[in-house]
Amino acid sequence: MEYRDHTLHCEDVPLADIARREGTPCYVYSSAGILEKFRAYDEAFGDAPHQVCYAVKANSNLAILKLLADAGAGFDIVSGGELFRVLKAGANPGNVIFSGVGKTEQELNYALEHKIKSFNCESEPELALIDSLAARRGLQARVAIRVNPDVDASTHPYISTGLREHKFGIDIAHAEAAYERAKSFQNIALEGVSCHIGSQILDIQPMQQVFEKMLALAKRLRARGLPILTLDLGGGLGVPYKPGDTAPGIREYIGTMCQSVSGHGLEILIEPGRSIVAEAGVLLTRVLYRKSNGAKQFVIVDAGMNDLIRPALYQSHHQIIPLRESTTGTMVADVVGPVCETGDFLARNREIAQALPGDYLAVCTAGAYGFVASSNYNARPRPPEILVEGGRYRVIRERETYDDLIRGETI
Ligand code: LLP
Repeated sequence: MEYRDHTLHCEDVPLADIARREGTPCYVYSSAGILEKFRAYDEAFGDAPHQVCYAVKANSNLAILKLLADAGAGFDIVSGGELFRVLKAGANPGNVIFSGVGKTEQELNYALEHKIKSFNCESEPELALIDSLAARRGLQARVAIRVNPDVDASTHPYISTGLREHKFGIDIAHAEAAYERAKSFQNIALEGVSCHIGSQILDIQPMQQVFEKMLALAKRLRARGLPILTLDLGGGLGVPYKPGDTAPGIREYIGTMCQSVSGHGLEILIEPGRSIVAEAGVLLTRVLYRKSNGAKQFVIVDAGMNDLIRPALYQSHHQIIPLRESTTGTMVADVVGPVCETGDFLARNREIAQALPGDYLAVCTAGAYGFVASSNYNARPRPPEILVEGGRYRVIRERETYDDLIRGETI
């Protein structure tokens, strides 16, 4: 996204053209932006055996999954629905890993039927269930145990997952015993170890600690006779949301990872989501009204917390910039949506360019955990998604209609 002739462009398309033709609110993604990040990951591994399994939860639009599958990505899924999406996009299930703390029997069966690459198991009862379901099918399920390495990711408490107090994984202190017990399962091939300590991580240091702890665990398991082949080091690399934010580069991050763990005959798996799609996406919105309550200025826009919940849920910051670069100075305002909740804001007490009714704005860095976490709250149809490719764009998900809102309901 960049200004050319004072007009914000996504690749070669002026975003105002999309806003005018397709209406607002709408999500717009840059295909080149997404591919650039995926390739940065893939290439940074050099000769080290690896697979980049894009975390589908960050943005699961079929066109984006297809783009990544064609570029050679594997996928990290957390539900049967995400497997369905990945299959619909034409991806090879042999490159899919299944994470998540509460997989149902039906979801496990679906994944076994499609012979996915591996299950990241989060508890001993889940291991037992996979073993029995695989036995019924007469096959061996490839499994990694997700270990909780007890390392603090120093991120927002809702998206930190790697401490003992969190629901995720099996405590690293008990992991070896869990592997030992799991040796008795006949229909499980215990070939991997995995972890994921959180999301929006901006500091490599805790990650380095994780890499070292996980490699040490893999070595101890091998010494116990387990044929550990894969080391899944999760996702989590953060992106800059604010102008002053500094996020480690993908190449630096993978460089550190490879230095710590490559050369031990392990295939390295990673599950990045946000760092592949966040910066390639914006949410376009139009200013409906302005008003002031005493000293406070409000800019009321047509995108609400149902379209982008991150500010309300994590107090997250998204830059808000005009589609036409302004020359009329700035204002301090709350940028709020139409939903009947005080938490329905996109920015609070924010200095933004002067915005008048009818102006279009871009809510930046909205490609990850944006549309996927949208809802129909307040009976608001969800916005369309649009993919830009060079000088062209296409609608990759239509705007919902009022009929979509009541699909499946009866009186
Ligand atoms: N693998 C596992 C097991 C995960 O739980 C997650 C994210 C990822 C990979 C991908 O992490 P990433 O590379 O995207 O950081 N809705 C929140 C983020 C929730 C992340 C949940 N797990 C947000 O909007 O910030």
